[in-house]
Amino acid sequence: MAQGTIEVRIKRQKDPDDTPYWEEFSLPYRPRMNVISVLMEIQQNPVNKAGRKVTPVAWEQACLEEVCGSCTMLINGKVRQSCSALIDKVAPETAGGRSLTLEPMSKFPCVRDLMVDRSRMFENMKKIQGWIPIDGTYDLGPGPRMSQREQQLAYDFSRCMTCGSCVEACPQVNEKSNFIGPAALGLVRLYNSHPTGKLNADERLDAISGPDGIASCGNAQNCVQVCPKEIPLTRAIAELHRDTTVHRIKKWLGK
Ligand code: SF4
Ligand code: FES
Repeated sequence: MAQGTIEVRIKRQKDPDDTPYWEEFSLPYRPRMNVISVLMEIQQNPVNKAGRKVTPVAWEQACLEEVCGSCTMLINGKVRQSCSALIDKVAPETAGGRSLTLEPMSKFPCVRDLMVDRSRMFENMKKIQGWIPIDGTYDLGPGPRMSQREQQLAYDFSRCMTCGSCVEACPQVNEKSNFIGPAALGLVRLYNSHPTGKLNADERLDAISGPDGIASCGNAQNCVQVCPKEIPLTRAIAELHRDTTVHRIKKWLGK
């Protein structure tokens, strides 16, 4: 392996029904490169390690500053955003050189190469009514007050960018389950604690009370380990266990 090169392996797939295959590229290392700049170099000159011209690799990106979540993929086996993944951090120089393996997230359908379809996350947001209802477009005034403590916690939960990292890392999300996943549970916690969002708290608790809801969480806690926004997901899940139990008891008592 030549000094100062990055050996890149990419899991590729032409379309959702195609069989995935691996393709290798070798490119010169430059200081301060990140995964997106590696992909852009390959896009400019899509020649694989065998010297054959190939179709450019497809991936998704938008903000390039870790706020939209669209560039999430598996980088050397770990789920994270490729725009903030510096080569020096994710593929440090070793005796064997630098090696970088890129794969699409496995818990979402692959659209092409490193692009996946994250619709299931947006469908789950609809299921849990992940919004604050308002009556109309006219000025509703300043709205109810929230304590500083509650505002701070709401801010922490509001940073979710539906990147899918927590879903990818969760063992309960698999081909045998339709578990709603940690991100949606974090959003239930966010909207149910808002003074106006509380008006729909019962509907949200109903939405996560079924077999694919909070009961499917196996408490692996991988979600908090991988969440790039450090959202306190396990805290949300613990609190929602209590809230759904109280909600079910109240329903049973007819209250
Ligand atoms: S909770 Fe964290 S890991 Fe999960 S989708 Fe939101 S930002 Fe990504
Ligand atoms: S491009 Fe938006 S998070 Fe990476």
